[in-house]
Amino acid sequence: MTFPALFQPLQLGPYALRHRIALAPLTRMRADTTSLAARALNAEYYSQRATPGGLIIAEASQVTPTGRGSPNTPGIHSNDQIAGWRQVTDAVHAKGGIVFLQLWHVGRASHSSFQPGGAVPVSASAIAISGNTRTASGAVAPYETPRALETDEIAGIIESYRDGARNALEAGFDGVELHGANGYLLEQFLQSRSNLRTDRYGGSIENRSRLLLETTRAIIEVWGADRVGVRLSPYGVANDSGEADPMPLYTHVIGELAALKVAYVHFVEPRSSGAGRAEVDHKDVPSACELFRPHWPGVLITAGGFDAASANAAVAGGHADIIAFGRAFIANPDLPERVRHNVPFTPYDRATFYGGDAAGYTDYPVHDAAR
Ligand SMILES: Cc1cc2nc3c(=O)[nH]c(=O)nc-3n(C[C@H](O)[C@H](O)[C@H](O)COP(=O)(O)O)c2cc1C
Repeated sequence: MTFPALFQPLQLGPYALRHRIALAPLTRMRADTTSLAARALNAEYYSQRATPGGLIIAEASQVTPTGRGSPNTPGIHSNDQIAGWRQVTDAVHAKGGIVFLQLWHVGRASHSSFQPGGAVPVSASAIAISGNTRTASGAVAPYETPRALETDEIAGIIESYRDGARNALEAGFDGVELHGANGYLLEQFLQSRSNLRTDRYGGSIENRSRLLLETTRAIIEVWGADRVGVRLSPYGVANDSGEADPMPLYTHVIGELAALKVAYVHFVEPRSSGAGRAEVDHKDVPSACELFRPHWPGVLITAGGFDAASANAAVAGGHADIIAFGRAFIANPDLPERVRHNVPFTPYDRATFYGGDAAGYTDYPVHDAAR
């Protein structure tokens, strides 16, 4: 069996992609513990997954210290972090790969133990995520009620993203992806369930979309629209997200992103929402790429539960242009070559997804056919 649609070239902004298989952004919590900078081990991991003309979306990276919610996630707000990421971008470029960085602020999906001065996390409104999280020391604790950002603080949040975008440019990335998905800060503003604001950042769809769109514009000023992507998770459920009626909200957002001519939109398929936390296969949910393709004129990336055959079918059917692989790419550093040669995937080990060192990170085997 062959998967020819996945090996058609594609122009993504200024970049000539040679295939349609991307590395999805994957938090692995293996940055340097003190500086939260990427290190040589991270460069090796990304280099293993780089292919000529292949797109890598590097893991979510906090644009400011308040944007962090987990141990050892990399940042993009200090000189050490710029230098750390430079090792990664150099390693990917040495293999002919293209690498974007995902810009992140977790908002309320944090805990005061991660926050400067032990402050409570910030969000659109003072509504806590239900259930438990882990503190910086690893203890299980309930999510805290966040502090609603004051209207006049929001410009500072946008500036953090702009700084992160500038730092990513300095670190040698080829572009940036704004993390507007999975229940993090930008989605907390987007969705009525987490946004009860009465200022110009809350209420109507236009107002709830404002932060995401103003942030996108700020990043475009740094990078140009053709090197900026935006990730969205309509119909997602991660981190207590979930809009009662997603279509009006997301068609508005996508329409505005189309007017801004961003390089791509990137969906998390609803069936896989929350796959970072647990094995999920949500039933009776729509296909984001099929639903939104008619509303989106540009390059469309989607991720979630694909194998070689379903990825090929999605591209061949015109539902998506690029398929990003997450869990399978963790366990198959040579995933594009495995798909090319129809070699079965090595199963992944969830126990080593987050934290630790080389085990479960850089020690997955490469298949002979891919060498
Ligand atoms: C270990 C792990 C870490 C993840 N980290 C991120 C992340 O940093 N940013 C993001 O947008 N999605 C993240 N996700 C979601 C993936 O990008 C992807 O959408 C999801 O795993 C579904 O794709 P898959 O079925 O190919 O794994 C993560 C998922 C996993 C399993």
